[in-house]
Amino acid sequence: EKGGFDHFMLKEIYEQPSVIKDTYRGRLLADQGLIKLGGLEDHIQKFVNADRIIIIGCGTSWHAGLVAEYIFEDLARIPVEVEYASEFRYRNPIITEKDVVIAISQSGETADTLAAIKLAKSKGAFVYGVCNVVGSTISRETHSGSYTHAGPEIGVASTKAFTTQITVLTLIALKLASVKGTISYRDYNIYLQELELIPEKVEKALLSNEHIKTVGEVFKNARNFLYLGRGYNFPVALEGALKLKEISYIHAEGYPAAEMKHGPIALIDEEMPVVVIAVNSNHYDKVVSNIQEIKSRKGVIIAIVSEGDTTVKEMADYVIEVPNTPESLTPLITTIPLQLLSYHIAVMLNRNVDQPRNLAKSVTVE
Ligand code: F6R
Repeated sequence: EKGGFDHFMLKEIYEQPSVIKDTYRGRLLADQGLIKLGGLEDHIQKFVNADRIIIIGCGTSWHAGLVAEYIFEDLARIPVEVEYASEFRYRNPIITEKDVVIAISQSGETADTLAAIKLAKSKGAFVYGVCNVVGSTISRETHSGSYTHAGPEIGVASTKAFTTQITVLTLIALKLASVKGTISYRDYNIYLQELELIPEKVEKALLSNEHIKTVGEVFKNARNFLYLGRGYNFPVALEGALKLKEISYIHAEGYPAAEMKHGPIALIDEEMPVVVIAVNSNHYDKVVSNIQEIKSRKGVIIAIVSEGDTTVKEMADYVIEVPNTPESLTPLITTIPLQLLSYHIAVMLNRNVDQPRNLAKSVTVE
């Protein structure tokens, strides 16, 4: 049942090339320049006329929402707010009929997300679901939606659900951008083609598995980790830290790299591994300066870099290369080494990788 893998988590990490493809199959028609998402097309005016989109979710699904915020605002120019469902439901939020709410949930059963959906519906908002489990409560409670096609996710730590959520949300953003005319025909087509290349790039990123294991070996006894990223890769830093915490029980924090100097830089010393996502992007030079700041305080850098990188390679203590892709698609690639790093560390520490202590796969109580 684990398909020859030692754990479901590892199997599910390795399924990502195929389930990302399953998630866009029949929806992404790059040669025709088309995106087909029935659940979205039936309600496209709701989205086009929305004052804003509110994205709600918990845990890893909330991180996928944060990635979506960048891509929706960047490409479709629709204001987006992302909120933990557990906070949203209790803070008397302002919601109107002109709001579209996107609820993200792998299981489709998360109690806080479900309660937030009910609240939004009671205020007249249109609610769109991005769920993995077909026929789940959230998929039934939402007005419309698009499923991720990740297949059953057994490992408690969410992996393939995250990348397929980002895949669906990217398709939605691109569709809205083309309908609204906020993206050029040329860029739109480039994105469609680049999305189709993601599965093979994820496959390539997985080839670093053995190298990542050796990096994990070096740091398995660290007591704290920092994860840093900027822009699209800030949410990836949060997700990397969450993965490490939940399965290895090592304390980890994700931060936007620029926030370092506002506090966390005080933590840096020669004991502190800092995982920095430093792939090609608009922020590359800024990330390089952040790495310099950490190095000058003797921090130990594990950098995720793009193929062909030279600058960060010279500065970092350990380097993990990933294939190049347009910046807005990088989370689909940069997430992969972080999943593997946490997996290997947890295995080396003899943790129960698939069923970490205190956690459940579906959080049906608040
Ligand atoms: C993290 C994890 C949790 C879930 C969260 C939401 O690896 O598994 O943080 O992401 O409980 O669950 P869903 O997406 O089922 O609503």
